[in-house]
Amino acid sequence: MTQDELKALVGQAALQYVVPGEIVGVGTGSTVNKFIDALASMKDSIKGAVSSSNASTERLRALGITVFDSNDVEELAVYIDGADEIDSRGYMIKGGGAALTREKIVAAQSRRFVCIADESKLVGVLGRFPLPVEVIPMAARRIIRQFSAMGGKAQLRQKDGAPLVTDNGQLILDVTGLTISEPLRFENEVNQWPGVVTVGVFATHKASVCLLGTAQGVKTLDFP
Ligand code: A5P
Repeated sequence: MTQDELKALVGQAALQYVVPGEIVGVGTGSTVNKFIDALASMKDSIKGAVSSSNASTERLRALGITVFDSNDVEELAVYIDGADEIDSRGYMIKGGGAALTREKIVAAQSRRFVCIADESKLVGVLGRFPLPVEVIPMAARRIIRQFSAMGGKAQLRQKDGAPLVTDNGQLILDVTGLTISEPLRFENEVNQWPGVVTVGVFATHKASVCLLGTAQGVKTLDFP
């Protein structure tokens, strides 16, 4: 099976976690796009969605799914999103699509986080994928130096020859050279740095379950 087919497989499998009559939290990325397409088949049995990016909002609306402002919804039963890396404890690196801040917000308002990913995303230790960090522009240089002091190399993400600007009007740093063996401690530490909006380690708001697309089918990993 191709990677695209594995993504479609887990996107479809995630439908079993969607609670009829409720609002579902929807992430961002190519795997989630498959989920959104599958969700269209259930659109009359859900109230709608809370979305983590402008891109997902557009896709949901184009399929006739109502998108609610997260401020208007107190709690969600489930949030469905992809990951750039996930380890055997459910800790993740996210933000390859630059949507990490809104993803963490929707994850925080959800009782369960269902991660959908193809098997290439499963790692022993987080850090092979460049770690995305959303930052306030005036702090970017200082934060680059702070990562350098911990052995990482941070680079400003570019798009079309200019710094990429997120849905929140901020910048993204991608950090290589880190081995994140204690994701909770790492997330808490980087969160303290002035100018950091969101670090792409999802440890406090880790996955509750992962639907992993493999050549043998969908494998369900539970993270109690
Ligand atoms: C978006 O900012 C990310 O957190 C995505 O969830 C992550 O990059 C996975 O994306 P793909 O499903 O496209 O691999």
